[in-house]
Amino acid sequence: FKNPKIAVIPGDGIGKEVIPEGVRALEAANRKFGIGMQFDHFDFASCDYYLKHGKMMPDDWFDTLMKYDAIFFGAVGMPNILPDHVSLWGSLIQFRRGFDQYVNLRPVRLLPGVPCPLANRKPGDIDFFVVRENTEGEYSSVGGKMFPDTDREFVIQESIFTRQGVDRILQYAFDLAQSRPKKHLTSATKSNGIAITMPYWDERVEAMSKKFGDVRTDKYHIDILAAHFVMNPDRFDVVVASNLFGDILSDLGPACTGTIAVAPSGSINPEGKFPSLFEPVHGSAPDIYGKMIANPIGQIWSGAMMLDHLGYPEAGNAIFSAIEKVLAAGPAHAPLTPDLGGTAKTDDLGKAIAAAI
Ligand code: NAD
Ligand code: IPM
Ligand code: MN
Repeated sequence: FKNPKIAVIPGDGIGKEVIPEGVRALEAANRKFGIGMQFDHFDFASCDYYLKHGKMMPDDWFDTLMKYDAIFFGAVGMPNILPDHVSLWGSLIQFRRGFDQYVNLRPVRLLPGVPCPLANRKPGDIDFFVVRENTEGEYSSVGGKMFPDTDREFVIQESIFTRQGVDRILQYAFDLAQSRPKKHLTSATKSNGIAITMPYWDERVEAMSKKFGDVRTDKYHIDILAAHFVMNPDRFDVVVASNLFGDILSDLGPACTGTIAVAPSGSINPEGKFPSLFEPVHGSAPDIYGKMIANPIGQIWSGAMMLDHLGYPEAGNAIFSAIEKVLAAGPAHAPLTPDLGGTAKTDDLGKAIAAAI
């Protein structure tokens, strides 16, 4: 992408506090590497927009965002203003589906200087990817409520696993595993209890693994897989999972590295037919919003992933190295936020990382 055009969408809560730090880091990389990246800011996909307009986004959001090479996104959700399923299905989930961002790529890495809640782990010991299916599976709007307000009331919601949808996320995950030194892929399943969709998932993993003879493949049911994330996180390299399982694993993984606040993600359309979206794994954190104590690293690292995706890996690496350098200095020498044991504000940490770039 030459002179990439970026749509910046802060959303709600701490999304509005961490996005400026993400942009600050991107601007620093932009200058250093002469990328010519341009940013436009949008206020939709937020509960504030909903309060003004009665909907989360303007009707032409798709055409508006199609003009951009990527979307740099904060977080959405203010459950005290609007039920989460309304705000999220009216914004983020529309992006993921409308722009066919079927890969949700979520690195899990223990970073220097971040205290690990698991005993005896050092940077390098935990370093894997969760590859989450991002457009179908357990997240569906197929179903409904019958006989409301009667004693026969019930709700049904279907899970949808299409052959194309399953195969393309598996293909991406196997390709990624094959490109890494360990060449190891783990599939998250639950085919002992969820008796139709998960056996199908296993069947497609098995079929795909035949095309990747050099990739060591294994599978765990999601319950014991969650346990192994805590007990043996060094066992993993690429973990591929359905939409819901991937969602859970991609909070659990970063929690095992000390804080979910540093975790980045890319909602990617690998074919490049539509813009991809880069955002932290965490949400809008209404419990700390307004105090400027949110850790901006998840947002900043998401910016590094965006630069990688846009074809500027050197610039992406420069941002990531700056994050590592500032973290490694520790709270006595670097302005770290409270979740990292420091007392600094969101923008102090953002400025330190931008300076290190
Ligand atoms: P959350 O990730 O917002 O917060 C969970 C906990 O982690 C909170 O205690 C919060 O203070 C802390 N935390 C999160 N990010 C942090 C950061 N950068 N620095 C320091 N601490 C941080 O999850 P939640 O509380 O379940 O959800 C809050 C809202 O965000 C809900 O509306 C939810 O639907 C939404 N949400 C949105 C996204 C998204 O936009 N991608 C992701 C997750 C949750
Ligand atoms: C995430 C979030 C979203 C998801 C929510 C907010 C709909 O938790 O990006 O991980 O479940 O995908
Ligand atoms: Mn999540």
